[in-house]
Amino acid sequence: MVSVAILGAAGGIGQPLSLLMKLNAHVTKLNLYDIVNVTGVAADISHVATNSEVKSFLGADKLAQAVTDVDLVIIPAGVPRKPGMTRDDLFKINAGIVKGLVEAVADNSPRAFICIISNPVNSTVPIAAEVLKGRGIYDPKRLFGVTTLDVVRASRFVRDIRPKIDAATLRIPVIGGHSGNTIVPLLSMASTPLDLSETEIAELTNRIQFGGDEVVKAKDGAGSATLSMAYAGARFADSLIRAIKGEKTVEPTFINLAADEAGAEAYRKLGVGSLEFFAVPVELGSQGVARIMPLNGNVTDGEREAVAVAVNALDANISTGLNFVRHSA
Ligand code: NAD
Ligand code: LMR
Repeated sequence: MVSVAILGAAGGIGQPLSLLMKLNAHVTKLNLYDIVNVTGVAADISHVATNSEVKSFLGADKLAQAVTDVDLVIIPAGVPRKPGMTRDDLFKINAGIVKGLVEAVADNSPRAFICIISNPVNSTVPIAAEVLKGRGIYDPKRLFGVTTLDVVRASRFVRDIRPKIDAATLRIPVIGGHSGNTIVPLLSMASTPLDLSETEIAELTNRIQFGGDEVVKAKDGAGSATLSMAYAGARFADSLIRAIKGEKTVEPTFINLAADEAGAEAYRKLGVGSLEFFAVPVELGSQGVARIMPLNGNVTDGEREAVAVAVNALDANISTGLNFVRHSA
């Protein structure tokens, strides 16, 4: 029995993500919340012949009900980018949205696992953490920034230049954050050795870091990645749900490194220093973060340099998120 709430369920990500969660056999209850259009989305998805019960919650006065007695909350609510914008440009609107939604989760399902998709993830996850701290219920093992799309892109983009590779099973750890040069793919630690030239490494790294821009440009003002994001979000949620049910699963995700300080040590030595939040490969278990996975081999000099660049940018993004809550209290 796993109860899931999706907040922002009528949006570009929310709709396909809700459908994919309806197809997940572990899910028994699916609460779909949005401030617009969610009644029709829920009615539509509720006809899919799986066993879970779908309920719709429309408008702010239904938020508390939507997040009562749920195990897992997934948040894709908020505005997406248009060409010429950075993810940080979304902060002004999305910071308040995420803060309000996490406050409701804290008040109604304080032990729920929370997965944040809303951008800028590098700042919205610290916002969520600060809200939970303020309520005295913060458990770093239960709060996740969803960076799975970077991992998905890494596998797929490698396949574009190595057509014999199976994109579905290739795993490349992507660490750091979720925006531009805070995204650090560790191509040297791919699950299958890739034998890439220096030029291929540079081009692939750049494409993975700026993959979101490809979609924003192609959609030409109509938003950012929604379908690939729904796939990535459903994959992360499924890994977490299987872990809650007793399996051990591994996914990179943006977490507070305090969730496993012993495991974080290797990343701190890599140059992450005292940074609070960072995306790392995580073994998920029944209580959320079971452990931070060790680095699988030696990182290259180029990867180490990329971490240094990411850490500088992340430091500012994280402070922006934490200060937003501290100063609006
Ligand atoms: P969208 O505009 O299509 O949908 C957003 C939905 O959120 C809308 O239905 C809207 O009504 C709803 N919403 C707005 N305020 C709300 C509130 N207070 N409570 C509940 N719902 C609310 O946007 P989208 O394309 O689905 O993108 C959503 C977010 O996800 C954006 O911030 C985007 O940047 C981000 N995103 C993140 C990743 C990632 O890898 N983490 C990938 C793609 C997009
Ligand atoms: C992505 O990586 O596709 C998302 O973060 C959306 C965006 O703004 O690019």
